[in-house]
Amino acid sequence: MLNSSFYNTPKIIIALDFCNKKSAMKLVNLLDPSTFYLKVGKEMFTTLGCKFVRELHQLGFNIFLDLKFHDIPNTVFHAIKAAADLGVWMLSVHASGGKEMLISAKKALKSFKKNTPLLIAVTSLTSLKEKNLKEIGIHMSLEKYVLTLSKLSNDCGLDGVVCPGREAKKIKLLYGNSYKIITPGIRCYSDNTFDQNHVITPKKAKEYKIDYIVVGRSITTSKNPIKKLNFIIESMK
Ligand code: C5P
Repeated sequence: MLNSSFYNTPKIIIALDFCNKKSAMKLVNLLDPSTFYLKVGKEMFTTLGCKFVRELHQLGFNIFLDLKFHDIPNTVFHAIKAAADLGVWMLSVHASGGKEMLISAKKALKSFKKNTPLLIAVTSLTSLKEKNLKEIGIHMSLEKYVLTLSKLSNDCGLDGVVCPGREAKKIKLLYGNSYKIITPGIRCYSDNTFDQNHVITPKKAKEYKIDYIVVGRSITTSKNPIKKLNFIIESMK
């Protein structure tokens, strides 16, 4: 089993974006639950539901349930409570849901005390370019947008943000080490970027002091996922 515990190295969250359980479990069964985190996102959750999340949890994995809630405060409050009941380690909302929604999401976790999931907010999707922000009426630089939503999420008491790699260093400097940075869009040099527009290498992620990297297709589309994971681990040493 692969192990990637090194001091000051970004921890690896594997994005389990598969279309069926068999393919997902083929990879999961190769991983050490004490060192790799698993992300269950919209595709697998919609296909396999809560039962799958519980099964992964029972195998000993820390689960990032990445459903990126974005709704009215009351709906998000109850959705967060239900998600936390699954025993997941981390949950996500969209920071653009606004102040009241973020505060409501945080409040929903108050009753959990021990093993309270981390609550993090997505700032800008790593697939968005500045031109896409303009298309939805946001006329500011991507950096300013990410920093604005990071401040809002910090003010509302969230535990960290999902952000493109480029902005990570600034956010760490502003809010300190305990404010977690999670970065998707991780690619090795030979990888296809697919729909991502802000990609960084694992090595850069270490330089930027990112806490957790989310690695999906770099591994899941690889012919030899374990060799690829080893390469990623080595490049962050
Ligand atoms: O395959 P790839 O490595 O691009 O996967 C990235 C994963 O991270 C996907 O599961 C995607 O939903 C998620 N994600 C993202 N950008 C964000 C937040 C989450 O790509 N801002």
